[in-house]
Amino acid sequence: MSKDKLKENILSKSFFRTPDNKTDREYAMTLDEKLGFDVETIESELSQQYRTYNEHTEGNEQKNHYEGTQAWIGLHPQILQTPYGEILDFLEHLEKYNINKIVDLGAGYGRVGIVQQSIFPNSEFIGYEIVKTRVDEGKRVFNLLELENCHLLEENILDESFELPEADVYFIYDFSDPMDLKFILNKLSDIIFKKDFFIVAKGSGVRSMISNKYPQFWSNHGVIHAKQWSLYSSFVDLN
Ligand SMILES: C[S@@+](CC[C@H](N)C(=O)[O-])C[C@H]1O[C@@H](n2cnc3c(N)ncnc32)[C@H](O)[C@@H]1O
Repeated sequence: MSKDKLKENILSKSFFRTPDNKTDREYAMTLDEKLGFDVETIESELSQQYRTYNEHTEGNEQKNHYEGTQAWIGLHPQILQTPYGEILDFLEHLEKYNINKIVDLGAGYGRVGIVQQSIFPNSEFIGYEIVKTRVDEGKRVFNLLELENCHLLEENILDESFELPEADVYFIYDFSDPMDLKFILNKLSDIIFKKDFFIVAKGSGVRSMISNKYPQFWSNHGVIHAKQWSLYSSFVDLN
């Protein structure tokens, strides 16, 4: 597909919507190919270089020690990332709001930033990702698509020095272990009564943690639970 056609396609929601005869993950593979992502090669090289997420180590240490965080190396690439169709689904729930900036905390290859173009074409995307080769590949595709408003940054969001930027939407898909998720959720909790924002949470770790330990995220404005994600807001009534 020509670059111009691709650039035109990503502005259209229908490009990202999973057809009825495919699963979200199957269609995500098709879209990866169309967009020119080489995720399989990169993930397989990472698996050869680093311990995988499910390898046990002395002391039952579960982290895979990619800079002291859980980088999910060895996980199937289509499980590691949120399918495009699912991203479209939660962004459509936000369509009626004024969304200027979306931040993905543990962004993988930056898929959210690409789907974002079809709904909020003038908004900014910032994805933080610790694994350099994922960042490099995401940036390569962003450049190819000339997405000047999309940024993937190689950063450890667990660093004490990491400052959570202001954003309209924070997306979290179980980027690491419970203590690490807590570190970020505490930062969001600190601003819940001060700033207007949404949180989209995907994965059983972060969703159950919010449900059990962070009532401040859902007790005032409710929550929308979809099959794969939950949506919270610091300022808008959701139900
Ligand atoms: C489950 S994946 C989700 C990727 C993407 N958000 C998506 O939904 O398609 C979580 C990502 O977070 C990254 N990650 C884990 N710990 C991190 C950290 N401390 N700082 C930045 N990224 C991290 C992992 O390397 C992985 O790519």
